[in-house]
Amino acid sequence: MLSRSARSGEISSQRGPRVREHASTDPVAARAAERVLPRATLAEVGRAAATCRACDLWKAATQTVFGEGSTKAQIMLVGEQPGDQEDRMGRPFVGPAGKLLDQALAEAEIERSKVYVTNVVKHFKWAPAERGKRRIHKKPRYSEIQACRPWLDEELERVKPEVLVCLGASAAQALLGKDFRVSRQRGQLIHSPLAPHVIATVHPSSILRAQDDESRHSQLEAFIQDLRQVARVLKHSVH
Ligand code: URA
Repeated sequence: MLSRSARSGEISSQRGPRVREHASTDPVAARAAERVLPRATLAEVGRAAATCRACDLWKAATQTVFGEGSTKAQIMLVGEQPGDQEDRMGRPFVGPAGKLLDQALAEAEIERSKVYVTNVVKHFKWAPAERGKRRIHKKPRYSEIQACRPWLDEELERVKPEVLVCLGASAAQALLGKDFRVSRQRGQLIHSPLAPHVIATVHPSSILRAQDDESRHSQLEAFIQDLRQVARVLKHSVH
């Protein structure tokens, strides 16, 4: 039986905690969700994340949206944060961006069963629209990304993907460094201790925001090309 203390984020068992330091050295993360039981399953980690209070984003969100997919998945896709529909449904990439992602994965001949999807931040950050009831997405702060990082580390450790794919600048900069530029380095293999192969590409939401159909079509094609590169890397991987 696992439990997580709300502030320290520490998971303990009735047999006593067996703790492990996280990769993140950020003090916010250190205060938040520093230690978990090494043998906790992904589902147990997900249940612990459901009560996370490491930053304030939980207050306005409906629920924690943990990652989804098999621990045997060879590809891990990491986005920024859940959107409005993900927040309501409690599942990542089920809204418009997720539908576009599904379409692009199918075009790139990547089976969903090979993919684990998650986000660097696991609560929806939003502000009310000036008029109406819409909830407008707000970019997470560095401190919020850091506070959430231990959950991603736990997911990485359990899934151990062959190929890690950062979707968009927030994920890429959180995982590959603040100087990373998706515009310059998309589709390239990046050396990183996080996985044998690491690639960044655009976020599907950016394609949905394209000015017109022609630009949306070309951006989608480029996104599919990046995912085809992911499929090729996986096919030739010797790990
Ligand atoms: N955008 C993301 O980055 N993640 C989701 O889960 C949905 C939209």
